[in-house]
Amino acid sequence: MSPGPAGGGGPDGDHGRHGIRVAIDGPAASGKSTTARAVAERLGYAHLNSGLLYRAITWAGLEGGWVDAGPDEFARRVGELDLELRRRNGEFVVVVADRRPGGELTTRAVSRRVSDVAAREPARTRALEELREAGRRGGVVCDGRDIGTVVFPDAELKVYLVATAEERARRRLLDYDETPTEERIAAEAERLRARDEKDAGRELAPLRKPDDAVEIDTTDLRPGEVVDSIVELARERGA
Ligand code: DC
Repeated sequence: MSPGPAGGGGPDGDHGRHGIRVAIDGPAASGKSTTARAVAERLGYAHLNSGLLYRAITWAGLEGGWVDAGPDEFARRVGELDLELRRRNGEFVVVVADRRPGGELTTRAVSRRVSDVAAREPARTRALEELREAGRRGGVVCDGRDIGTVVFPDAELKVYLVATAEERARRRLLDYDETPTEERIAAEAERLRARDEKDAGRELAPLRKPDDAVEIDTTDLRPGEVVDSIVELARERGA
């Protein structure tokens, strides 16, 4: 790995930097994760999917029966949670109590609850610590809702992905292995809109476009086109 741009002076110093940080934000199912993974692969960086942390906390809370706990118990449970991000072949994976949850994190049950969990302070503080530690040395492409605004406000490249709710619903149904009929698309688009509203309307680290982000509307673009544009921008910014 190349040491990346030298020069020191950053909050964590620039020694041993693995490259720049690319922040990709946007609403649910806007293609952030798939795009971020492909960009990371092209740049030889690691992909960091921040939503997985909120999903892991939600999953653990559902399993442990404390997902709706009051403030004190919730804070204690999240604080005690044995949760970490590990870098594995170009991807950060989330490990909970030495288990690596996979499909459990993207079930409808978790998706329904995750916005409420992600709005709670202990979950945000915990995720922020884990994400900053993972991105400390750069060389990451991180996707989420507050990456360019809160997690890495000094990221060298910030991208904000958008797409219509219907297109996002169609993609999400395909993720769930469901045929995207018109009726299902309409219902899923409603769920996505409700989740976006919660994510954008919450008090802590709401979903919003960073002022210095490049916005890309992916509705009519092929995934490869989006990836190419971001890789090009990243190269211009020192990747
Ligand atoms: O990207 P996703 O659907 O896996 O995200 C799951 C939830 O986590 C989403 O409802 C919003 C929340 N989230 C967040 O609040 N901040 C992030 N950086 C990433 C996700």
